[in-house]
Amino acid sequence: MASALDNPLLFLLVLLFPLSAMAQTNGTISLGSSLSTSDNSSWVSPSGYFAFGFKPVADKNLFLLAIWFDKVPEKTIVWSAHRGNLVLYGSKVELTSSGQLVLSNNQGQEIWTAQVTTGSATSAAVLDTGNLVLLNSNSGITWQSFDHSTDTILPSQILDMGTTLSSRETETNYSSGKFELRFQTDGNLVLYTTNLLTNYLYNAYWSSGTAGTNSQMIFNQSGYIYLRQTNGSVHNLTLGNIVSTRDCYHRATLDFDGVFRQYIYPRNWAGESWSIVWSVPSDICTAIAESIGSGACGFNSYCILDYTQRPRCYCPPNYSYLDSSNTFKGCKPDFVPQSCEPGGSGEEPRPQFQMTELPNTNWPMSDSEGYNSKNEDECRGRCLGDCLCALAIFTGVNCYTKKLPLSNGTIGTGTTKALIKVPQGNSTSQFPFQREMCFSFLEQEGI
Ligand SMILES: *[C@@H]1O[C@H](CO)[C@@H](O)[C@H](O)[C@H]1NC(C)=O
Ligand SMILES: *[C@@H]1O[C@H](CO)[C@@H](O)[C@H](O)[C@H]1NC(C)=O
Ligand SMILES: *[C@@H]1O[C@H](CO)[C@@H](O)[C@H](O)[C@H]1NC(C)=O
Ligand SMILES: *[C@@H]1O[C@H](CO)[C@@H](O)[C@H](O)[C@H]1NC(C)=O
Ligand SMILES: *[C@@H]1O[C@H](CO)[C@@H](O)[C@H](O)[C@H]1NC(C)=O
Ligand SMILES: *[C@@H]1O[C@H](CO)[C@@H](O)[C@H](O)[C@H]1NC(C)=O
Ligand SMILES: *[C@@H]1O[C@H](CO)[C@@H](O)[C@H](O)[C@H]1NC(C)=O
Ligand SMILES: *[C@@H]1O[C@H](CO)[C@@H](O)[C@H](O)[C@H]1NC(C)=O
Repeated sequence: MASALDNPLLFLLVLLFPLSAMAQTNGTISLGSSLSTSDNSSWVSPSGYFAFGFKPVADKNLFLLAIWFDKVPEKTIVWSAHRGNLVLYGSKVELTSSGQLVLSNNQGQEIWTAQVTTGSATSAAVLDTGNLVLLNSNSGITWQSFDHSTDTILPSQILDMGTTLSSRETETNYSSGKFELRFQTDGNLVLYTTNLLTNYLYNAYWSSGTAGTNSQMIFNQSGYIYLRQTNGSVHNLTLGNIVSTRDCYHRATLDFDGVFRQYIYPRNWAGESWSIVWSVPSDICTAIAESIGSGACGFNSYCILDYTQRPRCYCPPNYSYLDSSNTFKGCKPDFVPQSCEPGGSGEEPRPQFQMTELPNTNWPMSDSEGYNSKNEDECRGRCLGDCLCALAIFTGVNCYTKKLPLSNGTIGTGTTKALIKVPQGNSTSQFPFQREMCFSFLEQEGI
C-alpha cells in the first residue's frame, strides 16, 4: 500500500497525550465525534491548512463530504468521499465508537464507510499534508485518504504501481469523469480516456514511457513529482526548479478536461489564483487520437487551446451544445438532417441545403469517401449530393466527405477547410461569431 511521509511531530504528540484528551482543535478526532451538514463545522489540520467536512456545492441543500485547502479563498477540494456523490441537508459523518468513519444520509442510512483493512481505529486526524488518517491505539495508520485519491495528489504523497486517479465530470461536478491517470503495474504512468457507461478503456493519449520498471510515484515535500525506481533511478515529471512549498501550496490534479497539471498557490495570498507549473499532454486537442470515441471534445464539436492552454470545445455553424452547462459533451445539429428517401439515388443535389465554410478546421480520419478534386465547388457538390454527408474537408487537392457523428475536431493547418452542410437560409455568414473570437485570440497569442 502507499504510505505518507507524514508529520512526525504529530505522531509524537499522539503518543505523548492520552487519546481521550485530544480535541478537534489540534487535529486529533476522538471516537464518537461527528460532523453534520447543519452545524457548519469541520475537522481542521493542526496549522489550519486543510479541513475535512461537508461542503455545499451546486445549491445550498446539496453537500460533498470532502477535504479542501482551508486557507485558500476558493477552498479548493482535493479529495471527496463516496466519489463525488452529493448528500442532502441533514446528513452526517461520524467516527463511531467502534472506530468506523461512516457517512449517513439525511434518512440515517449509512451510504459510505472508510474501509479499514487492518485492526480498528481509535482516533482520526486531518494532517497538515491534507491526508485524513484513521489511527489505531499504536498510532499506526489503519486507513488514509492518500490511499484513495480521487483526482488530486499532494506533496508528501507516494503512489504505488496499480494506483489510478480519475478526473471529475466537470469543473464543479465531482463525480468520476472520463479520464484516468493509471500508474500501471508495469511502472508506466499513462493517461487514458474511458467510456463511463461501458468501462471501456480507449488507447493511451500520453505516457511517461517508463514501462518495465519497478517504481513509486513520489510527490515530495519540496513539490517535485517523479518516478523513482527501486534501483534509485529517477524519471522527473516536474522539470526545472519550482517555487518552494514553504512559499506556495502545491497540488497536481487530473482535470476534467483530461490534462494532468501541477499547480501552485502563494501561501501569502495576494490576489493570484492557482497557477500551472507544468502539464501533460501539451496539446490535449490533438493528443487524444482514438480510432473510436469523440476526441478531447464531444462528438460533432471541435477543440481549440485557449491562451491559458486549456481546451475549449465549439460547435460548427447551425449546431449547438447537447448540454449547455457542459461544452465538452458535444454538439447536435439544430436542423433535421437531409433525408435519404428510399429509392432515391442520393446523387441528386438537395436544394434545401447549402455548404458553409469553417476555415482551417478539420475532423481528420473517419472519412466516408475521398475524391481527387482540385475544385472546391465540386467538393461542395459531392457532399450536397450525398444524403449521408454532413461535411466535406477540402484540402486544395482532395475532397473528403464525412458523416455524423464527427470526431477528433481540431484546428488544422495550411489550406484545409471544412465545408459544413447546413439548411439554406438568409444568413450568408461564413464566420460564426465563435470563430471570429477564436481568431482574434489566436492572433493576439501569436499562434
Ligand atoms: C489538544 O487539545 C486538547 C483539548 O483542548 C488538550 O487537552 C491537549 O493537550 C491538546 N494537545 C496538544 C498536543 O496540544
Ligand atoms: C459557515 O461558515 C462560513 C465560514 O466560516 C461562514 O462564512 C458562513 O456564514 C457560515 N454559515 C452558517 C450558516 O453559519
Ligand atoms: C454530476 O454528473 C453525473 C454524471 O453525469 C450526474 O449523474 C449528476 O447528476 C451530476 N451532479 C450534479 C450535481 O449535477
Ligand atoms: C525533492 O526532489 C527534488 C528533486 O529531485 C530534490 O531536489 C529535493 O531535495 C527533494 N526534496 C525532498 C524533501 O526530498
Ligand atoms: C536502473 O534500472 C534501469 C533499467 O530498468 C537502468 O536503465 C538504470 O541505469 C538503473 N539505474 C541504476 C542507478 O542502476
Ligand atoms: C530531476 O530533477 C532534479 C531537480 O531539478 C535534478 O537535480 C535531477 O538532475 C533531475 N534528474 C534527471 C534524471 O533529469
Ligand atoms: C482520430 O484521429 C486519430 C489520429 O489522427 C485517428 O487515428 C483516428 O482514427 C481518428 N478517429 C476518428 C473516429 O476519426
Ligand atoms: C443557421 O445559422 C444561421 C446563422 O447563425 C441562422 O440564421 C439560421 O437560423 C440557422 N438555421 C437553423 C435551422 O438553425
